[in-house]
Amino acid sequence: MKQKVLTEFQKLFGAEGDIRAYFAPGRVNLIGEHTDYNGGHVFPCALTIGTYAAARVREDKNIRLYSMNFEKLGVIETSLDDLIPSEKAGWTNYPKGVMWAFEKRGFKLPYGLDVVLYGNIPNGSGLSSSASLEVLTGTILKDMFGFDVSMTDIALIGQYSENNFNGMNCGIMDQFASAMGKKDCAIFLDTSNLNYEYAKIELEDAKIVITNSKVKHSLVSSAYNDRRNESEKALEELKTVLDIETLGDLSEEQYEANKDVIKSEIRQKRAKHAVYENQRTIKAVAALKNNDIEEFGRLMNASHVSLRDDYEVSCEEIDILVDLAWKIPGVIGSRITGGGFGGCTVSIVKNDAVDTFIATLGEEYKKAVGHEAEFYVVDIGDGASVI
Ligand code: GLA
Repeated sequence: MKQKVLTEFQKLFGAEGDIRAYFAPGRVNLIGEHTDYNGGHVFPCALTIGTYAAARVREDKNIRLYSMNFEKLGVIETSLDDLIPSEKAGWTNYPKGVMWAFEKRGFKLPYGLDVVLYGNIPNGSGLSSSASLEVLTGTILKDMFGFDVSMTDIALIGQYSENNFNGMNCGIMDQFASAMGKKDCAIFLDTSNLNYEYAKIELEDAKIVITNSKVKHSLVSSAYNDRRNESEKALEELKTVLDIETLGDLSEEQYEANKDVIKSEIRQKRAKHAVYENQRTIKAVAALKNNDIEEFGRLMNASHVSLRDDYEVSCEEIDILVDLAWKIPGVIGSRITGGGFGGCTVSIVKNDAVDTFIATLGEEYKKAVGHEAEFYVVDIGDGASVI
């Protein structure tokens, strides 16, 4: 892949000068969904798929961007004087947003760049192709211009740009996983203070399998922003009787004892999910440390039920995948992963059941919805870097 972007770069922009290559991964979240903007815990890991770039600094303020995934769009030209979002800019709103956010943070970009990109995360799969593009851009800027920013800062800048340049009020999980991932580890991150620890994922006799439903429903970002607003409103209501900062501060018992101050049934369900999911994530990591993978799987399944019924971010196709998976022998746990409304499920499957899992689920899913699912048996990789 590195060679692929370098070769394309030389073809398009010439071979001279200091051309460098970079990679930033996508992520899969094992448990802790829609908790990252509610002050809760998440447990994602970086994948070995992601976005690659070859880049070179220019001598002027122009920016030339080319994605091998969108060949037809050709080279898109812009400039450091034109860092404003526009529909016309399409995918380039992500790198442009990160450049804009660096400048907002006081890191003035001295020159423009030429960049060629190639991503191998399936489009719209909910495996964080946009976060990987943001973190990749941050990594390029840090390296090329020598900015004094940590990888955590790069994650935060990526999130800031997505919130304020691209209008998606996402939490920090995706960018954090892409920037801070570690081979063979998931990241147990407390989003209230960004404290984190790496937990080794040593599944002796099981694999992580991602199933792509290959559906993406429209209005995903507006539905996502709605959930966020509902959770925030519920928090405000709870704060009238409780001294808390976030929904992540609450135990299940505290929630149950105070939920009646939330004046709508929908908001009660949203808050319930945020509170219980956070507690489930803490329990799941403890179970993993105790080598109790069965308990981890049960918590994954409960997470799905809560996302389906209380947070209402699943959809028919994803529920079909999960229901089918739960019936297949050797499946330890299965749930929707990521923002929802389509995308992927994540399952933990016993080694000797993986082939049957893929064959059976593939066949039954196609019968039920009329199109095929895609399967990826996952390796956990490192976070973004120069390659
Ligand atoms: C999307 C967002 C994340 C997180 C998940 C849900 O992936 O980008 O910040 O909120 O949805 O857990």
